[in-house]
Amino acid sequence: MTEGGKITVSCVLNGAKTDLCGEAAQPASEALRREGLFGVRETCSLGVCGTCTVLLDGEPVSACILPFYALEGSEVRTVEGLESGGRLSALQQQFIESQAFQCSFCTPGFLLSAAALLDSTEGALTDEQVEEGLQGHLCRCGCYETVKEAVRAVAARRHGQDAGRGAR
Ligand code: FES
Ligand code: FES
Repeated sequence: MTEGGKITVSCVLNGAKTDLCGEAAQPASEALRREGLFGVRETCSLGVCGTCTVLLDGEPVSACILPFYALEGSEVRTVEGLESGGRLSALQQQFIESQAFQCSFCTPGFLLSAAALLDSTEGALTDEQVEEGLQGHLCRCGCYETVKEAVRAVAARRHGQDAGRGAR
């Protein structure tokens, strides 16, 4: 729908059907931040740092180079949509326990790519899988090792749960 040079896109945003209004070619990150989703953080605006990552139909994408119109008909998840009923996800909780951040500016992006990785795999993860899944995320504070540790810990725990179920 077009109105005064602007378009309206319909999407499912963090689980809720939502209509958003904006300029077709503007970055999706701007439109999402206008909705108050400040976990979508913009730094490089070039698609190279990962801070603006959102999940589009379950896949991590850089919202700073994603045109607004591309949200139409999509399922969009930002870091605000990872918690459920006010409770942090197991992954978010593990980031805290593993001290996987310092300033935390990069954390929403890492969390979303890690969530996508965990959703698309089963059981424990190899170091290579984790590195590949987190590719394209930069952390100025150098928290790479603790981030990877957190993701491996969540994967290992579910692996243990899977093994336990299999043994019953
Ligand atoms: S701000 Fe989008 S990738 Fe850096
Ligand atoms: S925790 Fe500071 S940039 Fe990553």
